[in-house]
Amino acid sequence: MEIIQLPEDMQRRAGECRRARRSIGLVPTMGALHEGHLSLIRRCRAENDVVIMSLFVNPAQFNRTDDLERYPRDLEGDSRMAREAGVDVIFAPTAEGMYPDGYVTYVNVARITERWEGAARPGHFRGVATVCTKLFTICRPHRAYFGQKDYQQSLVVRRLAADLNLGLEIVVSPTVREPDGLALSSRNVLLSPEERRQATVLSRALFQAQAAVRGGERDAGRVRAAIEAEIRSAQLAAVDYVGVCDPDTLEPLVRVTGKAVAVVAASFGTTRLIDNAILDPQPE
Ligand code: PAF
Repeated sequence: MEIIQLPEDMQRRAGECRRARRSIGLVPTMGALHEGHLSLIRRCRAENDVVIMSLFVNPAQFNRTDDLERYPRDLEGDSRMAREAGVDVIFAPTAEGMYPDGYVTYVNVARITERWEGAARPGHFRGVATVCTKLFTICRPHRAYFGQKDYQQSLVVRRLAADLNLGLEIVVSPTVREPDGLALSSRNVLLSPEERRQATVLSRALFQAQAAVRGGERDAGRVRAAIEAEIRSAQLAAVDYVGVCDPDTLEPLVRVTGKAVAVVAASFGTTRLIDNAILDPQPE
């Protein structure tokens, strides 16, 4: 496994792969790898000749410096896990390499970024869209892999890839969960044992909403209120938002007549978690 730091070296290496007609899969990460990332890497391995994993804690997508500083980092552990999962190249640039002095170009995806994470974390999606565009032009993948856990992010990346004719496929894989339902996230290691115990309320509330919709509930307001009440029942949960919305536009719904997505964000102490679930009145 190769580790490449300079964007120009990575771009050269990707060019060689393309000229040799080898398909390139990219798994963008901010490190602190967990089973969710590994499932993306395994899928990428199965579907491509060359697997690149980017590892970059992107300062442009953090709207709070304390959050950026606290973000877990473990380059040694990540490299070992990446190698074992079948990564060929880790692209691990520095912040100066990605945003050198004089850097002024940003990518702004409108509309679908306005609500939920976009409203709660101003500038977050501008940072995500910018770094993903740069990663796509540097690593030149045929396919890039994202998790459904960051539902809004996956819509943003799909949109920008289509709007900018980037010519790659965006693959979104299901959320990987702990046995008790908690969605895997690099931030989970920051939870205290009691916060970790109470954080299961997020998936529980979402699973209850899925069951309610399957059972015939069509009033989106009632579904939303039930999710929020369940999350608030956990003493340590501070709800940020709960939405029941259109799965493509993320606009809040009045009635759940087709597929919808429930999105939630809450803090447990100083750790903020997000989760989501598809609500389907007629699951296959
Ligand atoms: O989901 C993440 O880890 C990040 O937002 C991403 C896609 C790697 C961009 O920095």
